Amino acid sequence: MASRWNSRVSIILLFCFPEVLLSAVVTLHSLEIYTTHELLASTPTVYFRCSGENKTYLPDVTKKNTLYTFRGEESFQPLMKFESTKCKRCGFYEEDRITSDDVFDEWEFCPSDFKSDDGRYIRTKDKEFNATFLCPECVKKGTLESSDTALHEKGNGMHWSVKLIIAISVVASTVLLIIGLIVAYKYWLKRKRQHEQARFLKLFEDTDEIEDELGIGPLSDSI
Ligand SMILES: *[C@@H]1O[C@H](CO)[C@@H](O)[C@H](O)[C@H]1NC(C)=O
Ligand SMILES: *[C@@H]1O[C@H](CO)[C@@H](O)[C@H](O)[C@H]1NC(C)=O
Repeated sequence: MASRWNSRVSIILLFCFPEVLLSAVVTLHSLEIYTTHELLASTPTVYFRCSGENKTYLPDVTKKNTLYTFRGEESFQPLMKFESTKCKRCGFYEEDRITSDDVFDEWEFCPSDFKSDDGRYIRTKDKEFNATFLCPECVKKGTLESSDTALHEKGNGMHWSVKLIIAISVVASTVLLIIGLIVAYKYWLKRKRQHEQARFLKLFEDTDEIEDELGIGPLSDSI
């Protein structure tokens, strides 16, 4: 019930802030160390830590070359939590009583590392360790992310149709402008012709008047 509500909230948040992802927990499924860094102590003290967070001790892991598997319910589980799609810098370390702690490996741990359908991620480092992590929510998040990109593409499609409408309007208004110019030119031509005709006729009338005055016009005889 709560988890359904949580996932609904996370879907809503994903739509608003794609970066936000609510509590994708990571559990340690198996760990095998191939070495210990402490020379004197017989049993190593192994812990996992992400930068800026608390150490998670793995008290069961005491022997090298032994595969330890976990059920995900142990007291130290979940191992860590992703609050967003951002990576965290994490690592396996061994406590050193004399000098600073030894490092098995330190890496950028990302929700996108969990690619397989069962939400599994295997991290190995030569001669150091082999670890399997589980994060089913990280995989679900991946599908949500792809639907989010689909949404973005839809948004781009809308931009596209807007662009198309603008292009059509530009073409249509250009055509209308050209038609308007042609009509205006034809009208102007017609007016010009009429005007010339009128002037021509007036010229004739004027000539007639002059001829009348001089008495040489064709009508002068009849007067
Ligand atoms: C880290 O440990 C301290 C003390 O044990 C605790 O108060 C704090 O809440 C822990 N922080 C996290 C992020 O678990
Ligand atoms: C690491 O452990 C996993 C799970 O036990 C196993 O499938 C994989 O083969 C191991 N990889 C190596 C390099 O030992």
